[in-house]
Amino acid sequence: MSEAPVPARARERADALRELLHDHAHRYYVLDAPSLPDAEYDKLFQELQALEEQHPALRTPDSPTQRVGGKVLDGFGKVRHKVPMLSIRTETDIEASGARNFDARVRRELGLAETDPPIGYVAELKFDGLAINLRYEHGTLVQAATRGDGEIGEDVTQNIQTIGQIPLRLSTVRPEPVEGSAPTPVRPELVEGQARGASTGSARTASSPLPPPPVLEVRGEVYMRRDDFERMNELQREKIAKGAKNEKTFVNPRNAAAGAVRQLDQAITRQRPLSFFAYGWGEITPPEEGGPAFETHHDVLQAMKAWGLPVSDRVALAHGAEDLVAYHQAVGRERDGLPFDIDGVVYKVDNLALQKRMGFVTREPRWAVAHKFPAQEQVTTVESIDIYVGRTGKLTPVARLKPVFVGGVTVTNATLHNEDEARRKDVRVGDTVIVRRAGDVIPEVVAVVPDKRLHEAQLFTMPRLCPVCGSEAVREEGEVDYRCTGGLFCGAQRKQAILHFVQRRALDVEGLGEKLVDQMVEAGIVKTLPDLYRLGLVALVALERMGEKSAQNLLAGLEQSKKTTLPRFLYGLGIRHVGETTAKDLARYFGRLDGVMDASPEQLLEVPDVGPIVAESVHTFFQQPHNREVVEQLRACGVHWEEGEPPVRAPKPLAGKTVVLTGTLPTLTRDEAKDMLEAAGAKVAGSVSKKTDYVVAGAEAGSKLEKAQALGVAVLDEEGLQALLKGEL
Ligand code: IVH
Repeated sequence: MSEAPVPARARERADALRELLHDHAHRYYVLDAPSLPDAEYDKLFQELQALEEQHPALRTPDSPTQRVGGKVLDGFGKVRHKVPMLSIRTETDIEASGARNFDARVRRELGLAETDPPIGYVAELKFDGLAINLRYEHGTLVQAATRGDGEIGEDVTQNIQTIGQIPLRLSTVRPEPVEGSAPTPVRPELVEGQARGASTGSARTASSPLPPPPVLEVRGEVYMRRDDFERMNELQREKIAKGAKNEKTFVNPRNAAAGAVRQLDQAITRQRPLSFFAYGWGEITPPEEGGPAFETHHDVLQAMKAWGLPVSDRVALAHGAEDLVAYHQAVGRERDGLPFDIDGVVYKVDNLALQKRMGFVTREPRWAVAHKFPAQEQVTTVESIDIYVGRTGKLTPVARLKPVFVGGVTVTNATLHNEDEARRKDVRVGDTVIVRRAGDVIPEVVAVVPDKRLHEAQLFTMPRLCPVCGSEAVREEGEVDYRCTGGLFCGAQRKQAILHFVQRRALDVEGLGEKLVDQMVEAGIVKTLPDLYRLGLVALVALERMGEKSAQNLLAGLEQSKKTTLPRFLYGLGIRHVGETTAKDLARYFGRLDGVMDASPEQLLEVPDVGPIVAESVHTFFQQPHNREVVEQLRACGVHWEEGEPPVRAPKPLAGKTVVLTGTLPTLTRDEAKDMLEAAGAKVAGSVSKKTDYVVAGAEAGSKLEKAQALGVAVLDEEGLQALLKGEL
């Protein structure tokens, strides 16, 4: 029988897919630096599988579909697995039918009738780490190997020995069963008493002590807990910040775990916090040679636990498809709360005789399936980086993405948090990025795929002007965020600014609450604060649920609010860092609004309890023409208060000057000189720099005097100091 000719397009596509998959497999298994998320790889893999099924002539011996995948890294010894480490079929259907399809297939392959009892399964978590084979001989760990290509893996014994959770010796004496540690059945009522279907778990392991068999190969997953991962990356970032050259951060716990296990330097593995779960086995001494006789998969896991191996307490017994569906759903709900990453669940036929009857296809057992959850990571491209301005004026860089389905929803934006984060990840327009969305957490760019960067991609820089209103955006010392300083004028901050202005402790406009402010802003009748005082009856009555009476009341409330006080007005402006107390301090000190508006940062620093951050904030606020304009208009609308005169204060001729004292003066002690200088407004500093205005030098002045001379700073003696204080210099 001759096969249909293969269309050229299918051949080209198959070639391209093979190329892509090979390349990715190399990065994934050998370099531990994947360039595609798993889901993407699976999709391509399945596409190739389908093409090859359709056109068997396309199936080449070296096709990635013909082997389990992976390659042995030079540097590790090679281990031929006694029992091949197989892969597992993946059920991609994210709904309940994934479990139902599997159950139907199992029943069909076992030739069961509809009237036959439900099949007994074990449902487990699908841990997202690295598969490992642990070989124990007479209870001692003698070898640990990675899966490699399934036939030959890498000898990573030394690295695995550093993982505290992996026993170097198995226990012979079983500990007393601990309450709560028994695996939970999905539906407990189905386990006890009722027919357990094809799975008849023996109770043997629950009572008599069981010595480990002469040969036992434990298979399981090495993984990293999320908290350990975060802590480790934090440490990595610190090292990088301190200039360490060969350090990097990891994209996710899976890569971190895989990297640590396949690390040639054992000392590094030792520092990486790894964990382990056992979920299966390879070679095991058969009963006829003195090994234990197990009837079910679940019994083996129980025995492993008894021998001291970590087995997840989320292993559950299930009967029939609906139990599996319930497990899938329950785990799906709790997924984000688990302390480690999983990418799905695994269903296994529990009864070992049935497993044997079902057997294997090329690379996968027929009696098990992995049922995945929607991938939480995907690749997409960055179309632009926009700046979002929040209600409080905070500027957040946001990556606009080519829409991508991830974590169960279509994602089009991902926050880059702030300038430092965007720089650290070095996300640029046009970049191919890995996007993550887990649970209700906002989508995030995890990493850039570096070799897909376009040549012309420009480094991201934070704008210095607010994209909404054009006011200056500033980043205060010690803060990570840029903020718009156009608080009164900025469209993004409108609602917040108005609400703040009208609140009881500020202008106290009666009858104006959040809902009404929302309506006014959305209707476009109030854009800036002065618009409030320009409202008329007609515009107000047009608002939802606003009768003429309440409109009139509101107008009366607005009218009344015009007579206010300077502290209330200052507070109402919503200047960052200016609360009620600071507003009072400023009002008391300057007496008049103009005094505050025109004050230099140095003058503001003179106000008791005002430090550099507040001084800078007030100054910048009133430097914005838009803000000054709003203040003028409010006054023009009739907002007024009683202005006072600034209290008479001793003149401060030395405000803003920095003076350094050195040596012994003829009549004044150091403290006296310091007090006099500070009273005149000078700052007395301890060391000389270019910013020093004067150095006052007495007898035995040393290096400070020399430095002053070198820098050309004016040097005074005590007489000069007196002249300076009198303002004569
Ligand atoms: S059983 C013969 N059970 O998923 C069946 N695998 O291809 C062998 N995995 O890399 C796999 N959790 O390391 C099984 N509870 C679990 C698992 C699990 C994670 C990994 C395994 C392998 C992949 C399956």
